[in-house]
Amino acid sequence: MLVAVVGGTGTVGAHAVRALREKGHDAVALSRSNGVDVATGDGLDDALRGAAAVIDTTNLSALSARASVAFFEAGARHLLAAAERAGTSHLVTLSIVGIDRMPYDYYAGKVAQERLVTAGSVPWSIVRSTQFHEFAAQIYRQAAFGPIHLAPRARLQPVAATEVGAYLADVAVGAPRGRAQEIAGPLEEALDRMVADYAGTRGERVWTPSVSLPTKQMKALREGRGLPVGEPRRGDQTYAEWLTSLRE
Ligand SMILES: NC(=O)c1ccc[n+]([C@@H]2O[C@H](COP(=O)([O-])OP(=O)(O)OC[C@H]3O[C@@H](n4cnc5c(N)ncnc54)[C@H](OP(=O)(O)O)[C@@H]3O)[C@@H](O)[C@H]2O)c1
Repeated sequence: MLVAVVGGTGTVGAHAVRALREKGHDAVALSRSNGVDVATGDGLDDALRGAAAVIDTTNLSALSARASVAFFEAGARHLLAAAERAGTSHLVTLSIVGIDRMPYDYYAGKVAQERLVTAGSVPWSIVRSTQFHEFAAQIYRQAAFGPIHLAPRARLQPVAATEVGAYLADVAVGAPRGRAQEIAGPLEEALDRMVADYAGTRGERVWTPSVSLPTKQMKALREGRGLPVGEPRRGDQTYAEWLTSLRE
């Protein structure tokens, strides 16, 4: 079965492509680097030809609500239209646990994306995941002021991107599930500890003070609103194991 992974060169998309191939399926990774742009629709018709399913793991780096809504709405619209024209019978969209419980600008785009997919004419599955282990590395890079790397306090249940990719592959080759079981990691973790431990793994001489950032996202995450409600599918790899894998 041919599955197209839009965003298939990204963190989780590349794992989905690998998992599909390991399961014996044909998988094609699509992104702007090979001429496919979901924001404009360019290249999608050719790229989806023959694909029985499409997985959407696209992302943008801008974090404003306006940019996020514009990107995810345009992407969902173009993907739905192209999938319909191509006769693709399953759209799998990766989303985030708790987006509708947190008034965070970037999440407004994910909520808009889910709304269009659920109202669309292509049979769908939406997989919501908690943050990947890589989230701590992103924060480490972004909240840096020289040797000071702010370590925000927040409650997370981070999951291995490899396991999310494998789950997406499983979902894509089966019948559309609608809202699929959420996926989360095996343990709740404290983000400030995750950032400090990530710094330790890198062996850099830096300071990682714990801070309660006043942003809407961090406040909501401190309150535990990014944790799964109910029983998620649980990944196996802990954050500590992921850190160990970075050293290998
Ligand atoms: N990171 C997390 O902790 C987390 C947790 C849960 C869910 N998610 C969701 O997972 C998805 C993927 O996240 P990620 O961290 O794997 O993202 P990522 O590493 O930034 O990868 C994004 C992918 O999208 C492609 N892309 C970007 N703009 C595109 C466009 N206009 N047209 C086509 N492809 C485009 C990129 O390739 P090019 O730049 O070459 O186009 C890349 O392959 C996102 O929707 C995010 O909301 C993330």
